[in-house]
Amino acid sequence: MKHALLVWLLLTACSPRPSAVVAFAADGAAVTQLDLAATAAPLQPQTVTVFEPYEQRDVAFHALPATAVLDAAYGARWRKAEALGLVALDGYTTTVPVSRLLSHSAYFAISREDRADFVLDKKVPKPETVAIAPVYLIWDSAKDPVIRAEGDYGWPYQLASVNLTTFAQAFPGLAPPALGTAEAAEGFELFTRYCATCHSIDGHGGKVGPELNAPHNVTEYWQPQWLHQWIDNPQSIRKGTAMPGLPAHVPERQKAIAAVIAYLKAMTHGP
Ligand code: HEC
Repeated sequence: MKHALLVWLLLTACSPRPSAVVAFAADGAAVTQLDLAATAAPLQPQTVTVFEPYEQRDVAFHALPATAVLDAAYGARWRKAEALGLVALDGYTTTVPVSRLLSHSAYFAISREDRADFVLDKKVPKPETVAIAPVYLIWDSAKDPVIRAEGDYGWPYQLASVNLTTFAQAFPGLAPPALGTAEAAEGFELFTRYCATCHSIDGHGGKVGPELNAPHNVTEYWQPQWLHQWIDNPQSIRKGTAMPGLPAHVPERQKAIAAVIAYLKAMTHGP
């Protein structure tokens, strides 16, 4: 009896695959949970080599295709949702548009091929080793130049749960009026990703840069062409400014800047 228990303990302790349980929800309500280290065929881990944005080199992971995992968790309905909230163990949430998962290849990684411990030896933003279990969301950055150019955007680690959501739910207080233009809606998505980390709208958002809507909207007191140029290249207006400008890799940059301005305008308070 004692021996059997000891053998069982040893087997469990030496088990090569620790569990990788992820909870799936929609609008905050639980849907299901899956242990990605113990899924049934045909949902099997495969070796996926990506350009790892924190280690800044190619790394091979054991990983499951994200679309197949999401199909298993939600059926087809996630494909019609607007966004995925990816929640880490500490509650930190990354919001990624569903369209990005449908147009680029993402994977839920559950272990590394080159080492036994599931960690990252980060080089950027600073050298440190971080644990990334239970799951790490990775993208096909080795073959996809658009994904590679975006660095670590959308690579949450210690991923514990996934929530089908909308940008309006994920960023309360920042959503433009429901009947606004498609351009403003696009600008809202861009703003949440590239601006809201530093700027607030009516107090919602980051505190590194100035508030952009209270009491007056920045589009009321900045001339349109200067505002466009500022977002494009702040240094060309104010030498030494701490504002970085819209990243160079953003596709259709001029259109993107116009959309951000349309969004800012849509947030203007009434007279
Ligand atoms: C890393 C932080 C950071 C990011 C990201 C950032 N900004 Fe800024 N922004 C600043 C800082 C800091 C200032 C003040 C700079 C100065 O006055 O020289 C500023 C100033 C501004 C101003 C001038 C405000 C005023 O009233 O003078 C506007 C407009 C602006 N940012 C818009 C944006 C937009 C739109 C984005 C996204 C595309 C963005 N910023 C992204 C930090 C940031």
